[in-house]
This record gives sequence, structure tokens and C-alpha cells, in this order.
Amino acid sequence: MFAIEISDDAELRPLEVWQVDEFFAHIQRARKQVDRWIRFAAGASDLNGARDTLQRYADRQAADTGRLFGIWHQHVLVGGCMYPHFDAQSGNCEIGVWTEPAGQGHGFVTTAVRILLDHALIERGLARAEWHCDPRNERSAAVAKRVGMTAEGILRSSYLHNGERQDMQVWAILQDEWAAIRDEW
Ligand SMILES: CC(C)(COP(=O)(O)OP(=O)(O)OC[C@H]1O[C@@H](n2cnc3c(N)ncnc32)[C@H](O)[C@@H]1OP(=O)(O)O)[C@@H](O)C(=O)NCCC(=O)NCCS
Repeated sequence: MFAIEISDDAELRPLEVWQVDEFFAHIQRARKQVDRWIRFAAGASDLNGARDTLQRYADRQAADTGRLFGIWHQHVLVGGCMYPHFDAQSGNCEIGVWTEPAGQGHGFVTTAVRILLDHALIERGLARAEWHCDPRNERSAAVAKRVGMTAEGILRSSYLHNGERQDMQVWAILQDEWAAIRDEW
């Protein structure tokens, strides 16, 4: 139900609490790739943590302050994307992404991010969508660039990750910029 085709054999769907077993099995496969850059998998270190992650996003969805989606390739959950922050009142949101190794390198994430941009900036009428990444995370920055975002700057020593203060690169796209390029895909 509620699936959007993102390639011949991949779909974007809501990722919900009842799917916790499937989500946790996927996170175990994704952990090594994801932990290097973000805390998302670390928060789901066991089944209870995985359930808490899904419940947190279910609560955000109910409050219209965030939402989580999975990417299924040949019926296997291989990654996903989310709005970690979604503020319709201020017109701002942030988009985040992850994959396990089998989900990487197919363009699934780029397509999924375009769908989230379209929902936020066109359907919901938000003014601005942000993307936050470690400036050394080339694959992440490549997605932001591919969908038409602009690198706005770097917040130095912005957050603690893996025991070290990390810089955060902020990318963003505005509603009129997205409206001008959305038809290209
Ligand atoms: C960031 C991350 C999600 C990017 O995944 P990705 O697979 O590179 O991104 P996409 O799905 O957009 O795929 C792009 C790749 O698919 C290829 N591709 C194939 N078909 C494509 C298509 N139709 N459209 C776009 N790209 C396509 C691209 O050439 C590119 O491969 P390349 O980099 O080897 O040239 C992934 O590396 C990851 O999970 N990293 C760890 C977690 C993380 O860093 N998250 C982001 C934190 S800010």
C-alpha cells in the first residue's frame, strides 16, 4: 500500500512501527556504512532501540513535524529517507537519507529525495529544504548537489559524533529554485 515506484524494481513507502523486525535486520546490514557519518543506526542498536526510532518518527508524523520512509529493492528494505525536522509554520524542513551497501549506487536515494522535495516545497508549500552533512561525506554531498541544492556554508565543530567534534555542511534549496528544475526529472 501507499508505494511510489522509484525504479523498475524499487519502491518508496512509509516505514512504520509494525515493520520493526524488518527495519532492525536492515539496520544491522547498514550499520557499518551509516555509523561513520550519522547517529541514525546507533540509535537502533537493538530491537527496542529500533522500535523507539520508528515510534519517534510516528510521533513526529502525527504532530506534522517529521516523517520516515523506506526504500525497498526487490522487496528487501535497503535504505530510506526522512524529514528529521518539518515545520510547516516556519516553512522549513530538513531531509536525511541512508542506505545499506546493497542499496547504494542505484540512484534510489536521489529519486526519493526529489519526491520528498516535491512534497515539502510544492504540495505543502514550504519555503526551504535543508541538507546537513559532514563535508567529507562525498556521497551525501553528491546527492544534495544532484537534486539542485546549494552548499551554503560550514558550521565548524558543530556536533559530537564518534567521540569527535565534527563540522557540518549545510546545503539548501528554496521553493522557487525547486519549482524551476522539478520538471527536468
Ligand atoms: C549518502 C548515501 C545515502 C548515498 O547513496 P548513493 O547510493 O550514493 O545515492 P543515490 O541513490 O543517489 O545513488 C547515486 C549513485 O547511483 C548512480 N546512479 C545509477 N542510476 C542513477 C540514477 N538513475 N540517478 C542517479 N544516480 C544513479 C550514480 O552514478 C551514483 O553512483 P556513483 O557515486 O558511483 O557515481 C549513502 O552513501 C549512505 O547511506 N551513506 C551513509 C549514511 C549517510 O552518509 N547518510 C547521509 C548523511 S548526511
